Amino acid sequence: MTPIPKLATAIIAIWTSIPTSSASLTGIRNVFAFYTTNGWGGTGDPLAAHSAVCFSAGPPWSQQFAQITGTRLIDLAVSGATADQSLIFTSPLDFRGQTTAFLQQVVPFPNKVAWNSTDSLFTVSFGTNDVNQSFKNTTGNGTDLYAQDLTSYFATVDRLYTAGARKFVFNNVVPFDRAQIGVGQGPQLDEKMKDSILEFNAQLAAKAAAYCATKTDITTCLVFDTHMVFTNLMDNFASFGFATSDQFCPSYANRFSCDVDPTVDSTCLGPISVYIWKDSLHPSFAADTFWAQGLADQLQ
Ligand SMILES: *[C@@H]1O[C@H](CO)[C@@H](O)[C@H](O)[C@H]1NC(C)=O
Ligand SMILES: *[C@@H]1O[C@H](CO)[C@@H](O)[C@H](O)[C@H]1NC(C)=O
Ligand SMILES: *[C@@H]1O[C@H](CO)[C@@H](O)[C@H](O)[C@H]1NC(C)=O
Ligand SMILES: *[C@@H]1O[C@H](CO)[C@@H](O)[C@H](O)[C@H]1NC(C)=O
Repeated sequence: MTPIPKLATAIIAIWTSIPTSSASLTGIRNVFAFYTTNGWGGTGDPLAAHSAVCFSAGPPWSQQFAQITGTRLIDLAVSGATADQSLIFTSPLDFRGQTTAFLQQVVPFPNKVAWNSTDSLFTVSFGTNDVNQSFKNTTGNGTDLYAQDLTSYFATVDRLYTAGARKFVFNNVVPFDRAQIGVGQGPQLDEKMKDSILEFNAQLAAKAAAYCATKTDITTCLVFDTHMVFTNLMDNFASFGFATSDQFCPSYANRFSCDVDPTVDSTCLGPISVYIWKDSLHPSFAADTFWAQGLADQLQ
């Protein structure tokens, strides 16, 4: 097998974290994000004013990434969504519907968001809700279900490609089996959750490589290893400025502002910024900083 250069770059990036040499951020003005949400509810115009809701108790990785890179974030994400609700049901608008919204609300109006194939990065981050919602009901590590789910995922990616998208970042799933939502399942189910995340991520990497290999004009095809970022954070939490690897503070769990509230609750280990996890499942903005910076570094 002779991998084409962009594929080799993506694979090197996945397994060794060597920065890509293609300067993928050069000329990027827009970042279209499918997950993580800033509060759009999934109906109407995603660009219209809406209340800001952030599950990271501060700016999510996507907002921080846009800030670091000096780009405009256009966020199509809807909280709680899966890649395909006909396969793994949650009620929020799924990746397919979010892409329809993109095609109907964003693409036809060139003066609304001026974008083209070279100045726009498409980031896709499905999987957390897919695995959390389904892992208890699957056989083994969920191979069959995640194969269907990711087949749908890349069919949706292909609709973005058809609309002109040529630069893609696929974020894999963080090790939330090590967060309280996983730990709280007990060892047996937590092991199943862990195996399901690993299986989803393995299939995501394989399907991304396979998809991009079919398109010679995709200029960025990166599976960003958020799983490794969060594994490193949790393994070495103190050296990254966190007070705990897996705990969250209940009184911060219901903070949904996109601005950081510095108020310290005395029942917590410190301000929200000393926590990797904002609640049982969602990373805090402080952990998301390492996601945003890590991705920016890898795309430099
Ligand atoms: C894409 O837009 C950028 C401005 O953001 C412009 O410089 C570039 O020429 C455009 N590319 C094409 C192929 O139209
Ligand atoms: C899992 O299966 C049970 C019984 O088969 C069903 O009641 C439940 O809704 C399923 N859960 C999910 C998340 O699909
Ligand atoms: C995780 O999935 C369970 C179903 O297994 C669901 O009840 C729960 O709300 C989900 N948690 C989050 C935070 O989405
Ligand atoms: C998931 O389970 C299948 C079947 O047992 C196995 O072949 C595969 O290696 C597992 N995936 C991972 C990531 O370990």
